[in-house]
Amino acid sequence: MRILKAFLVLALLSGSAAAVSAGYTPDFDRGVDVKQAIQAALEAAASAGGLLPELPGRQQEAGPVWVSMEKSDVGGLDGALFKAAPAAQNKRIVIYEFDADRVAELAAGMHRAYYRAPGFFAHDTLESALEDLKAPRPVPARAYAIDQAARVKELLPLVKEAPIVSAIASLSAFKNRGSRYATGVDASKWLQKEWAKLASGRPDVSVAPFKHAAFPQESVVLTLRGATEPDNVVVIGGHIDCVAGYGDTLAPGADDNASGASVTQEVARALIEGGYRPAKTIKFIGFAAEEAGLRGSADIAAAFRKDGVKVEGMLNLDMVNYKGSAKDIYFVTDNTSPDQNAFLGKLIDTYTEYTWGSFKCGYGCSDHASWTKNGYPASMAFESTFEQYNPSIHKPVDTLAQTGGRAEHAFKFARLGVAYAVELAK
Ligand code: BES
Ligand code: ZN
Repeated sequence: MRILKAFLVLALLSGSAAAVSAGYTPDFDRGVDVKQAIQAALEAAASAGGLLPELPGRQQEAGPVWVSMEKSDVGGLDGALFKAAPAAQNKRIVIYEFDADRVAELAAGMHRAYYRAPGFFAHDTLESALEDLKAPRPVPARAYAIDQAARVKELLPLVKEAPIVSAIASLSAFKNRGSRYATGVDASKWLQKEWAKLASGRPDVSVAPFKHAAFPQESVVLTLRGATEPDNVVVIGGHIDCVAGYGDTLAPGADDNASGASVTQEVARALIEGGYRPAKTIKFIGFAAEEAGLRGSADIAAAFRKDGVKVEGMLNLDMVNYKGSAKDIYFVTDNTSPDQNAFLGKLIDTYTEYTWGSFKCGYGCSDHASWTKNGYPASMAFESTFEQYNPSIHKPVDTLAQTGGRAEHAFKFARLGVAYAVELAK
């Protein structure tokens, strides 16, 4: 129950981290004082006596959490936070077991000491946390070629704005899609049904949930099975959850990230409508629990690695429907593959009139980071520069109406997704 508090604080702090890592004064929330918001959240949590009331959407109790963090960060924090000895450590990283409610205190301490957040990784299991002690898995180099012009040009006209609008409207109509709430579970189930409709009549297309042990929301996976190299997999996806605020509150999350999930769906829909049969397998994934610390994608990418799945590349779509900057599409340069990012830029130049740029998040800001961490080439396509993204995200005003009920910007990302799928899954 008490992990809700942790999620709230983590969400607020990680939002502020966005501002800090970009090196400008924290106007992240355009007028909302983030520091004050964090303080208010902490006070509210404290006055609730460390316990939150039972919430209607609540489905599952929180378990222990294993936190991995930089050893050098521990010194600046209140020693009382660390009741027990570390569960494991190496020269640089230390792992502690925490009660879920104390993770919020750790996040607050981190914020006070370093004004960054969360600054640590939360894991469901010790086994998963221990992975952080190992050197990051290198992403092997690979060659990229653009030589499928006929196929891409045939499929691009099938990409439409209307289905994207419709999917964003449906997803953002749930009260919220928080990964621990009933409506977050419902939204995932709804998407599974929608995607199953796309699969009907195609024996090579299937839809399945990916269930997570630590939270009730399921990730959704549509598989377009490769005709000749089914064991080689291309992943396109975006998170389906959203920040549910302090409790089971209204959070439409239209841009963050109904937009990316809907574009993921539109890429699949257009390819299927075009009767496209790739050589390699393409997996379209709606990730659960991104806002809770990339937990859905962390589970999936780790499972793929354990199973030895060969992932040719991963394209993450997170926030794609707000045109905040001069250029059309921006790529995140950190926690991503420079080679694949360059390939995506070339795809835009080859097949579209769109302009593109890049920026650095400064931290693992979305699901691409889970894939990079597991040694897979991943990229993140984004709506604007880091300074100019949609100011409505993580608030009740992140609605489709904010983009005039349109998906003009998101449409561009769906076209890029089609080009990416065809040129990588060939
Ligand atoms: N869509 C955001 C990430 C984002 C926001 C990237 C603005 C670039 C600019 C994502 O859903 C999010 O909120 N991520 C968290 C971090 C995550 C590990 C909880 C964040 O950035 O605070
Ligand atoms: Zn997001």
